[in-house]
Amino acid sequence: MPKSLIFKDRNKLSPYYIPRRLPHRDQQINMLLSIYEGMLEDIWGAYPRFIEVVGPAGTGKTCTTIRFGEIISERAHNRGINLQHVYVNCKVDGATRYVLYSNLVKKVTPKISTKSLSPEEMIRQLINYLKFEEIFLIITLDEIDYFVQINPKEHVIYDLTRIPEMQPGTPIPIIGGIFVARSLKWHDLLEQGERSTLGRGIIEFPRYTSRQIRDILADRVKEAFQPNVVSDETLDLISDITANPPINGDVRIGLELLYYSGILAENTGSIKVTPEHVRKVYSEINPTITAEDILSLDKDSRMILLALARGLKASKSAYISLRDLRKFYNIVCEEYNVKPVEEVEERIQDLIYRGIIDMKSLLEIGISGAALIDLERFLDNLMRQLEQSG
Ligand SMILES: Nc1ncnc2c1ncn2[C@@H]1O[C@H](COP(=O)(O)OP(=O)(O)OP(=O)(O)O)[C@@H](O)[C@H]1O
Ligand SMILES: [Mg+2]
Repeated sequence: MPKSLIFKDRNKLSPYYIPRRLPHRDQQINMLLSIYEGMLEDIWGAYPRFIEVVGPAGTGKTCTTIRFGEIISERAHNRGINLQHVYVNCKVDGATRYVLYSNLVKKVTPKISTKSLSPEEMIRQLINYLKFEEIFLIITLDEIDYFVQINPKEHVIYDLTRIPEMQPGTPIPIIGGIFVARSLKWHDLLEQGERSTLGRGIIEFPRYTSRQIRDILADRVKEAFQPNVVSDETLDLISDITANPPINGDVRIGLELLYYSGILAENTGSIKVTPEHVRKVYSEINPTITAEDILSLDKDSRMILLALARGLKASKSAYISLRDLRKFYNIVCEEYNVKPVEEVEERIQDLIYRGIIDMKSLLEIGISGAALIDLERFLDNLMRQLEQSG
């Protein structure tokens, strides 16, 4: 590929890239460190601490906990302690407790085969393994609110907080659990006992202001773009758009604006990314569904979403009926040569829990706050990419 005049390294704008420095999240990292670092003094006698990380979309909860995990395990390592941070995302790794735990175990070691084990046995074997290998863990369960909504009867919190009681009097290899959610609403779905073990250690992630977003994006501009390509005005505009409604500080959207504005500049032969590019891109993106949301869906759910976007576009209204959605879904499946799933309703329910679609009644299914025409194009493109990547 010829050298780009716009980008130096566009990967640095990916939603999965985590920079070393996370501006305006020092306080949150330090709070986590102040809770867990002290345990390194006497790791064999440590009792686990469970902490909640709470804040709106795109406030850095995921990247901060992952970064914290790297820092704490490095500091432990310097003291000769094998402490690992395992990050599990419930939207990606766990549709049920069974799947969640087997993914958790797999992330720790390939040595335990979870195949014929119950969730309780998986945890027990994991504990035995950790004790034997003298490994300590901090577990982050990200998007726990999503998990609890789809599995209100599966008591993950209970399982984790009960570990110290499993073999009383012996060291506890799981020294921490960090539960990440957008709000505390998920507590309503917990049992009293579970709720009371949580609820005290809460670390809040406030929305970023426009200035803070600017600091975050300015770092990325340095990493991702050629020098002097993104002007101050461009950065100001993206930061303002990102800080204000309807985006309300979701940095993910700020990064997407930066990325697509750069692509637009490149494709139109410009040597700078201007506010004009940003405005054009902003008028076309969908502020409620990000590329990351879509990447976290499996193929069947994407098909349903695509069908919904098509159906909405055809009907020229904000909602279509379940019946119409099914009709469009069958057409889309035929077009992409995939077998339609039987549990369409379950898939729709899942998309509702993910905040991607809205259902008022069986006759009114829509996309949460969408700009439809471009969503369809976006989904169409995505499906093509998927087809190509096999
Ligand atoms: N302080 C920061 N410094 C650098 N990048 C940041 C910062 N905060 C957020 N980001 C970036 O913004 C994007 C969104 O952040 P993140 O995924 O951590 O948000 P979140 O709070 O977990 O959101 P959600 O509730 O939607 O899961 C990521 O690409 C992340 O790298
Ligand atoms: Mg997150």
